[in-house]
Amino acid sequence: MQTYIGTPASRIDGRAKVTGEAQYSAEFNAPGLLHGSVVTSRIAKGRILRIDASDALRVEGVIDVLSHENRPPMAKTDRAYSDATAPKGSAFRPLYNDRILFSGQPIALVVAEEPEIARCAASLVRVEYGEEAHVTDIFGRRDQAIALEPTAKFPDSIFAPPKPRGSVETALAAAKVRHAGEYYVPIEHHNPMELYASTVIWEGGGKLTIHDKTQGVQNVHDYVCSVFGMKPEDVRVMSAYVGGAFGSGLRPQYEVVLAVLAARALKRSVRVVLTRQQMYVLGYRPAMIQRIELGARDGGTLDAITHDAVTVTSQYEEYYRQETAWSGLLYTSANAKYGHKLVKVDLCTPCDMRAPSAASAVYALECAMDELAVALKLDPLELRLRCYSDRDQNNNRPYSSKSLRACYQEGAEAFGWDRRSPEPRSMRDGRELIGWGMATGVWEALQVPIGVRIVLSANGHAEVSCATSDIGTGTYTIMAQVAADMLGLPMENITIKLGDSTLPQSPVEGGSWIAASVSNGIATTADEVRADLLRLANQMPNSPLAGAGPDEVALADGKLVSKVDTSRAVSIVDVMRQGGVNRIEEEKLVTFADDGSKAHNTHSAIFAEVKVDEDLGVIRLTRVVSAVAAGRIVNTKTAQSQIMGGVVWGIGMALHEETLVDHSFGRVMNANIAEYHVPVNADVHDIKVIFVDEPDATINRLGIKGLGEIGIVGVAAAIANAVYHATGKRVRDLPITVDKLQR
Ligand code: MOS
Repeated sequence: MQTYIGTPASRIDGRAKVTGEAQYSAEFNAPGLLHGSVVTSRIAKGRILRIDASDALRVEGVIDVLSHENRPPMAKTDRAYSDATAPKGSAFRPLYNDRILFSGQPIALVVAEEPEIARCAASLVRVEYGEEAHVTDIFGRRDQAIALEPTAKFPDSIFAPPKPRGSVETALAAAKVRHAGEYYVPIEHHNPMELYASTVIWEGGGKLTIHDKTQGVQNVHDYVCSVFGMKPEDVRVMSAYVGGAFGSGLRPQYEVVLAVLAARALKRSVRVVLTRQQMYVLGYRPAMIQRIELGARDGGTLDAITHDAVTVTSQYEEYYRQETAWSGLLYTSANAKYGHKLVKVDLCTPCDMRAPSAASAVYALECAMDELAVALKLDPLELRLRCYSDRDQNNNRPYSSKSLRACYQEGAEAFGWDRRSPEPRSMRDGRELIGWGMATGVWEALQVPIGVRIVLSANGHAEVSCATSDIGTGTYTIMAQVAADMLGLPMENITIKLGDSTLPQSPVEGGSWIAASVSNGIATTADEVRADLLRLANQMPNSPLAGAGPDEVALADGKLVSKVDTSRAVSIVDVMRQGGVNRIEEEKLVTFADDGSKAHNTHSAIFAEVKVDEDLGVIRLTRVVSAVAAGRIVNTKTAQSQIMGGVVWGIGMALHEETLVDHSFGRVMNANIAEYHVPVNADVHDIKVIFVDEPDATINRLGIKGLGEIGIVGVAAAIANAVYHATGKRVRDLPITVDKLQR
């Protein structure tokens, strides 16, 4: 029997995607579909005094211009605008009133027969503002930052810094070697390929079918129902394909509100597609100033860690994650102390962006560890090994599995780390200085409650459905692999349905929690299907499985087979035919019973090689090895793609990416992918991904952890450390650009 889990199965949605058969949110059509174009605020803070849409309305083909002055009713409470992933505060309400909270805020929607007409007319809408003083610079408000209260638990509460342990002050005073440094990560944006879009189909009778780009169809469904006071059965949200989102689609975004508003106002189908420029006010990785101080004993063991972070949030919501706790989690240190402060600025609220908090925090920690290794005259990898911890340091508990040691070993071996000469500027290739750097990565292996429905037909085909998204990570494919193995059917016999709010319950796809959760859900629901089949089989005359209990049989090769004696078997098709049953349907809601006794994390070790032109300071990233421990790998091909994508993003974080705000206007200056630099093919060279063996007997029955996020964590640090090794120059603010190397 062929099994699918652990194989490099190709994406089952691959053909649909490359042939264009897969429809994205902006590609659905309806008779008489109208098109909306968004007018955005020129100022960062103040009020709208007057909106003059008369010129826009005179354009032939323009149907209406909606603003806070003439829109249909919307909910009035903060609660109505909150969503499953909203931070504390008062969520932004699109087109709600005359208040301007950030530059680029949507303030009107021009609706027309054609998108080009809408866009042209949008440029004719005249707006008068009452401008107020704004602040967008984290450094300008640093002294007014609000401190967050620490909480006792980590990572169970990912929303606050944990309590300190020991006494860092005493430990630092006694330390033989200390390192303190301040590290900076700028605002960064997700920049998914697919633009945010919502096509709202007016079904008549006030019912709506909404094709929206989102990471959570049910989250958007509930949000639309509460914002517009609609009945759950009158709204269906679909997002069968998502062209990348990386966290920007966790919360409902404003395009869906605007499209629904227009559809309800005009009783017609409406599509709203954002421009690339408008995508820069959907949320971002918050700018983060971090101070880390480390104290080491003689032998290179860590005794004190302090990690203080200052991050930005909007004026109306408090967005933060436990940025600093990764430091105390990762390495053995008897003393640790954390601090986190928030600076409120007149920008939109930040949002989760691939490995939120860890991508920024572990960058700082791992650069600081590199600097400590230099101070200790110790190989950076050796320092990590001396500080290695087999227990979750924050909660003093074991891991369900932690194969980070294997990551270090296999990664170092594949990279050739032992050939590194320790002195900076000591390795070169002609005019280029060679630098080798390494870093550790860590992320959580979370699981969430999830519902799965399986419908098995008498012809041996099964449909497996769940309201989760596939944000490009390969969810369709791994669901089919797991279902095929659990039902004992070929993968071709499995159909996957997802991205539809009417399907069994799923939270947003994010946090790397869907692969483990949905796989577990499929396995559990398949148990019920198997039990149903066994009941039918036991009714057959002379059943070869007579007397067998549900746990004594398995599904394999299209048959129900005795585990004790594989010659005792009966085909699924026969069981169902003889039982007179056309279909077996089961649906289970699976929750993850976590007693908190074990920590669940994924880890990685990243090794990077840079070559730096000695005269010009141009940095080329020539090689990366990323060795990852993420439990059982369901699909080695899609998993490798996830990690490779994370590494490429880490290259961007280290060397290219930075959202530049003109603080005098409070506006993003480089709101396009020409000036917001991301790695291109010429920047990406040899990336090797290794998955180390990491059996995990307790995390879930299949031993699966997620790996969407872990790929990016630590990459920027490994590259920054390589740049130091090449040049002897330590740049502590990202991105490391040519000018900073010359400073
Ligand atoms: Mo995840 S923050 O949705 O990349």
